[in-house]
Amino acid sequence: MFGSLDEDGDRHAQMGRWPYSWLVDIPSVTLNNGFSIPMVGLGTFSMMGRPGVSAVAGALRAGYRMVDTASQYGNERSVGLGLRESGVPRDEIVVQTKLSGGDQGFDEVINAAKDSARRLGVDHLDVFLIHWPCPSLGRTVDSWKALLTLADEGFIRAAGVSNFKEHHLQMLYDETGQWPALNQIQCSPALARTDLRAFMAERGIHAQAWHPTGRKEGMLGEAVVIKLARKYGKSPSQIALRWSVQQGVSVVPKSSHVGRQIENADLFDFWLDSDDLGALEALDRGERAARDSDVEEQF
Ligand SMILES: NC(=O)c1ccc[n+]([C@@H]2O[C@H](COP(=O)([O-])OP(=O)(O)OC[C@H]3O[C@@H](n4cnc5c(N)ncnc54)[C@H](OP(=O)(O)O)[C@@H]3O)[C@@H](O)[C@H]2O)c1
Repeated sequence: MFGSLDEDGDRHAQMGRWPYSWLVDIPSVTLNNGFSIPMVGLGTFSMMGRPGVSAVAGALRAGYRMVDTASQYGNERSVGLGLRESGVPRDEIVVQTKLSGGDQGFDEVINAAKDSARRLGVDHLDVFLIHWPCPSLGRTVDSWKALLTLADEGFIRAAGVSNFKEHHLQMLYDETGQWPALNQIQCSPALARTDLRAFMAERGIHAQAWHPTGRKEGMLGEAVVIKLARKYGKSPSQIALRWSVQQGVSVVPKSSHVGRQIENADLFDFWLDSDDLGALEALDRGERAARDSDVEEQF
């Protein structure tokens, strides 16, 4: 996965590609509508201004091919500048952003998608997610119908959601006959979301993990994680991320530092065995420790 910059840089430059794209090579997963996304994308929460632009550009130059942002993060312009600064062709990058709670409603969603694309400087969005269900608004289904319309019109390649629980997903299907392509959920060994993921898997909804390193839950200092990191010659973050991707859950770790960005994508040359997975299972704090989107609403 790692190699000599000069040698490979020259080789890729000759091929007309950005010289450092070889640093990480990330496999893809195909969603229920046939659209493929990388198993590791770049989280961008709190990446703002010039440092944010550089962080996005650096990740893409290192080989990332997906960025995850949101209208709510207030950084779509910086992310868009990073896309362009990277020099990576637009059609090689999966651009994923999210609808703010305040923009829910059919017409509002159509306008919000166009506004996000304008801020990002792109002519279409690849993946567009309803950020939180926000049940008190009573506009989740109308918003979902708008996402489906945007997908039919080709303005978005995949329609998805985030922070949706089983009954929120079921409501979308009952009203429209269509499951989301993906649901981005808080997920790590500390919050395994086993029942929700099983529900989604049965219905072909891809699970994507936010806060996948589980740092805030103290994952990286857990003795079992440190032991596995030593066993495989990896970092605690890589153990947490590997746990996800090995189960088919894609991840969007955020790092502003190219070294850690590369580390977070360097997950595909080792395998956690069943004993390892069993040991990590003990860290799961259970569904009640996850953020509850029936109660929490974000705008
Ligand atoms: N849908 C939602 O509601 C929702 C909610 C939260 C987040 N998200 C998305 O998910 C992304 C990831 O979640 P997150 O940012 O909360 O958590 P995370 O990616 O698990 O952790 C990010 C933090 O860990 C540090 N870090 C990352 N890789 C590291 C490594 N290899 N070694 C040491 N430290 C490392 C980063 O610092 P440095 O930058 O200094 O490396 C940053 O402080 C967000 O950026 C956002 O795109 C979505």
